[in-house]
Amino acid sequence: MRASLIAFSLLASTTAAAEAVLPMPSSPLYVSECGSCHTAYAPGYLPARSWARLMSELNRHFGEDASLKAAERDLLTAQLQSLALDTSYANPAIAARNGGAWASEAPLRLSTSPFFHYMHDEVPDSIWARPQIASKANCVACHPHADQGRYSESEIRIPK
Ligand code: HEC
Ligand code: HEC
Repeated sequence: MRASLIAFSLLASTTAAAEAVLPMPSSPLYVSECGSCHTAYAPGYLPARSWARLMSELNRHFGEDASLKAAERDLLTAQLQSLALDTSYANPAIAARNGGAWASEAPLRLSTSPFFHYMHDEVPDSIWARPQIASKANCVACHPHADQGRYSESEIRIPK
């Protein structure tokens, strides 16, 4: 337990106060397409230019071909960018922890961000290595409602 709950209580929405809940793209395509190989990551973890870069390189996506039809790609790109880290929807705690220097590099991995390290530095390597986790990018392994943008501490379940 640390300052995370306090940090997230900065969220503007009163219903989400003290809960780590991030807005998600409204199109159901986001979870069905971008949540099929891994967690459907909340847009608020990466700046808009990162989403533009990632969505323009889907044919060579971390060693996979994740290409979409142009219309679907354009719809999801617009929705991701509208909720990105450098918009008014950003969570202030995430934006402050990541800082402008990290965000200005158009990073493709939120799992290497300063915010991610800060939030997870007490999780030991032995847990990350568990077969049901295997990757730091596998948010949904420990945050079962991550595909809905929900990361609250009260909902964390770490696989044995
Ligand atoms: C065919 C499978 C596949 C599909 C479909 C796919 N991805 Fe990925 N994606 C990957 C793989 C593999 C990785 C690397 C995962 C890892 O390191 O654990 C990855 C990683 C990522 C990462 C970086 C995760 C991190 O922080 O380390 C982001 C962001 C991402 N994908 C977004 C998307 C988006 C947006 C879509 C939909 C347009 C999408 N992906 C569709 C396979 C896929
Ligand atoms: C090994 C399981 C595990 C994985 C995988 C994991 N997390 Fe976490 N996460 C945790 C734990 C444990 C905490 C609580 C840390 C603390 O408060 O000390 C946490 C905390 C968080 C919080 C803060 C929650 C709050 O209520 O303040 C966020 C946001 C978060 N994680 C996002 C992510 C994202 C995004 C990913 C994937 C890129 C991810 N996590 C992957 C275990 C995990």
